[in-house]
Amino acid sequence: MGDKEMYKKLVDKLAKNTVLDRDEYLTLIKNKDGVREYAAELAGKVRRQHYGDRIFIRGLIEFTNHCRNNCYYCGIRAGNSCVERYRLSPDEIVSCADSGHELGFRTFVLQGGEDVLYTDDILVDIISRIKKKYPDCAVTLSIGERSDESYKRLKEAGADRYLLRHETVNPEHYKKLHPVDMSHENRLRCLRRLKELGYQTGAGFMVGSPGQTDEDLADEMLFLKELDPQMVGIGPFIPHKDTPLGGESPGSAQMTTFLLSLIRLTLPGVLLPATTALGTIDPMGREKGIMAGANVLMPNLSPAGVRDKYLLYDNKICTGDEAAQCINCLKLRMEKTGYRIVTERGDYK
Ligand code: 5AD
Ligand code: FES
Repeated sequence: MGDKEMYKKLVDKLAKNTVLDRDEYLTLIKNKDGVREYAAELAGKVRRQHYGDRIFIRGLIEFTNHCRNNCYYCGIRAGNSCVERYRLSPDEIVSCADSGHELGFRTFVLQGGEDVLYTDDILVDIISRIKKKYPDCAVTLSIGERSDESYKRLKEAGADRYLLRHETVNPEHYKKLHPVDMSHENRLRCLRRLKELGYQTGAGFMVGSPGQTDEDLADEMLFLKELDPQMVGIGPFIPHKDTPLGGESPGSAQMTTFLLSLIRLTLPGVLLPATTALGTIDPMGREKGIMAGANVLMPNLSPAGVRDKYLLYDNKICTGDEAAQCINCLKLRMEKTGYRIVTERGDYK
């Protein structure tokens, strides 16, 4: 049996929902060029079995770019004094949801830096207003590490889902990406807690972040299998010039799309976005991500005046477009891939 046949056999095994061990994942990751297309084909099939040709859209509301943290890779880190900081008021956030609802969005993702000014009381108010106005919609939070009590209150206020990328499964690697006052252990604890509380929970990591090895990526796959999150967010690392890691090389679109396929095959029903970072590193990145097994897109609903201020990495796409433009652009792009954007909530099944 040739090497290529052996890699295909491994993908077949994964597609049959048999677990792969670390060495098997590692073999695939190290030899992705020989097996990428085959993995994408099978991932596409699995994705169709679960979700047909539907692509779910999430309206992303980037409501604050203030952050208390200093992640070495992130453009809105506290230490970056070049950022023009902004906060959206509760009224402004609800009005983003209004325009999003009008455009057909049935999930709103409230994303922001870890901004202490948004207390539980304020967030509870925002979430309950949106849920009361739009009971047919899901609210997703992406606001970092908070206390168990806070997660509980926000859930009770009506939040349905929570995105908290773990960034890397390797504690040593975590230390290369974050200052000492950030704890890998707490990050993982938060993720597990969110899941226990009944949030549809999303984990994830950057592909090609400085210091990441193929072994780390194999461990990511094992970790995801074990955690079994409802959502997984991955995108290429892209350097931001005003950060400590600004001089490092970006991650690759090909490795990202390959991992999307492996994740789809590992967690068949997972909600998996083709991210803006993927669309930034490659002009056709989002299409390629969808064809490799992703089934979610997260266009921006933030008001035009603040869009170019929420820059986690350089050259982010769509910062000058209105939400309506983006959604039309994406519809056309997706039609060309044979998939179709739908306006359902798109819950995990
Ligand atoms: N490149 C790519 N992704 C980034 N993120 C933060 N900074 C960057 C960057 N420079 C990702 C992190 C974070 C998510 C919101 O965005 O994974 O969890
Ligand atoms: Fe925003 Fe194409 S998706 S302009």
